[in-house]
Amino acid sequence: MSVSELQTIEHDVLVVGAGGAGIRAAIESASRGLSTGLLSKSLLGKAHTVMAEGGVAAALGNVDSRDNWKIHFRDTMRGGKFLNQWRMAQLHAEQAPDRVRELEEWGAVFDRTEDGLINQRNFGGHRYPRLAHVGDRTGLEIIRTLQDFCIHKGIATHMECTALDLLLDADGKVAGLLAYWRETGRFVLFRAKAVVLATGGGGKAWRVTSNSWEYTGDGLGMAYRAGAEMIDMEFTQFHPTGMVWPPSVRGILVTEGVRGDGGILLNNKNERFMFDYIPERFAPETADTEEEAQRWLDGDRDARRPPELLTRDVVARAITREVKEGRGSPNGGVFLDIASRRPADFIKRKLPSMYHQFKELAEIDITEEPMEVGPTLHYFMGGIRVDDDSQETCVPGLFASGECAGGMHGANRLGGNSLSDLLVFGKLSGDGAIEYANKMESLPEVDEDRVQELMRAATAPLNREEGSNPYLIQEKLQQMMQRCVGIVRNAEDLQNGLEELEELREEAKTVKAHASAQYNPGWNVALDLPNLIITAEAVTRAALVREESRGAHTRTDFEGERDEWLEYNVILSAGEDGRLAAKKEKRADPPENLAAIANATLEELEADNDE
Ligand code: FUM
Repeated sequence: MSVSELQTIEHDVLVVGAGGAGIRAAIESASRGLSTGLLSKSLLGKAHTVMAEGGVAAALGNVDSRDNWKIHFRDTMRGGKFLNQWRMAQLHAEQAPDRVRELEEWGAVFDRTEDGLINQRNFGGHRYPRLAHVGDRTGLEIIRTLQDFCIHKGIATHMECTALDLLLDADGKVAGLLAYWRETGRFVLFRAKAVVLATGGGGKAWRVTSNSWEYTGDGLGMAYRAGAEMIDMEFTQFHPTGMVWPPSVRGILVTEGVRGDGGILLNNKNERFMFDYIPERFAPETADTEEEAQRWLDGDRDARRPPELLTRDVVARAITREVKEGRGSPNGGVFLDIASRRPADFIKRKLPSMYHQFKELAEIDITEEPMEVGPTLHYFMGGIRVDDDSQETCVPGLFASGECAGGMHGANRLGGNSLSDLLVFGKLSGDGAIEYANKMESLPEVDEDRVQELMRAATAPLNREEGSNPYLIQEKLQQMMQRCVGIVRNAEDLQNGLEELEELREEAKTVKAHASAQYNPGWNVALDLPNLIITAEAVTRAALVREESRGAHTRTDFEGERDEWLEYNVILSAGEDGRLAAKKEKRADPPENLAAIANATLEELEADNDE
């Protein structure tokens, strides 16, 4: 088929990915009068955003008036082990309250305090109750609200349409992308002045994950092939609490809201083991006795927080250790108990989805019995490298936001900071794309030879007489990542992982999809594989380069944080041989004003509220 015969859709700004960041970017662009397209790999509303259940972090100060953006910023930097991009963490903490209030104006129905304000709950690593929430369905409510608003803005939504690769013009500027409709298998050419990637992470590279089938690192793969860089891909977050039983639902998220609302973690000896895992940095603010933790639960504002609310990296490692040392639950997790801490009506009101999830999927009544939980791959802290303010990558006209962009969360993300991240940076990427597109007089020309090349490559799995099974390659990859690039890593496993990835990459070149292109999940998986493999390779290479343990990245052969590594990010891009290369890059010194906030005492920062 010649390129002129292809279905062609033109927009000023094309947003790829219809989770929270993508829709928020599209709303911005459409509100300012630009023709805006929103590409969704699946159905609108089905996004990993809904897996951020417990709340959106924003220093509204509704439940504890001592809170402010500076304390949120400080918590975020401490949670990220100071490897966050400072400016991004500042923009995030400063702008999150406005983004949440704006959502409320657009119709989001948050839970309320007795005074009628947006209610906020506790979460790991956040000093004060900071998570605005809708029971345990916050991500869902946010998506629902954005989606309604986006429809009123007249955004062209292209559903069940998968992007294959970005297209550049002769000067290397973004010119659009080639995609296919999943229903018919037909190709479609999108031409645009600016493209915003908001495709989420690549959790499907692991066997146990909270991510669903869409999350195959598509944005990461496309950005890399277009010449963009990735940053700090070694930092992959294992959420401490996913379901472990029955096997068919292993990995499904159990919200941190359970612990935020008082749930405790127990091993098979009925010991509240998190008291044994309090890191020195967090000791001054963490309760070290049952009695103090109980006072906190009873509402004593001055009691220190229970150890279950330590940051996710700490809790996930602790659970892994308990299981490894034989103190785990029957199905390889630990117990999460809220039944003994809160009355049944409280649990059903604050955690309705958890109640139903366990009832339906595991036949457990969480108001009476503990849940069995264990770590599940949940989130990428690393991602496409972007400018802090505009969210533009080093490829002109290409922007990224939300989970597929890196830098904001450093070595570990605090729960609830994903929803605020996607609102804040979704908007900023929209702003960036608008500014860029407005300077362009016309749509850039796409390279037609490249379009032909992409169509030939995409149809090759259908046209081959025989070849490997795409599902088996995906499964081998997931097994390998779970084994070699898990919560705890070492050089030998990572090297073995890279060797296996090399074999899988070769095997993926001979993949065979049976039948036609219409409704063909086998073919769809075959087309996802290159992105999944490059994403897995980026994580593995970066993990090998970072010879220390920091946040979510734990190396048994390089224990503990190393001061010298605080000065480096790990940057990945195509090397001179065209293969993925990882290198250390020195970080700029932090801006003085932000360093002062990060180093200030809580009392000093709280005093700001009195001024
Ligand atoms: O546990 C949760 O509700 C997840 C929240 C998040 O990842 O931000």
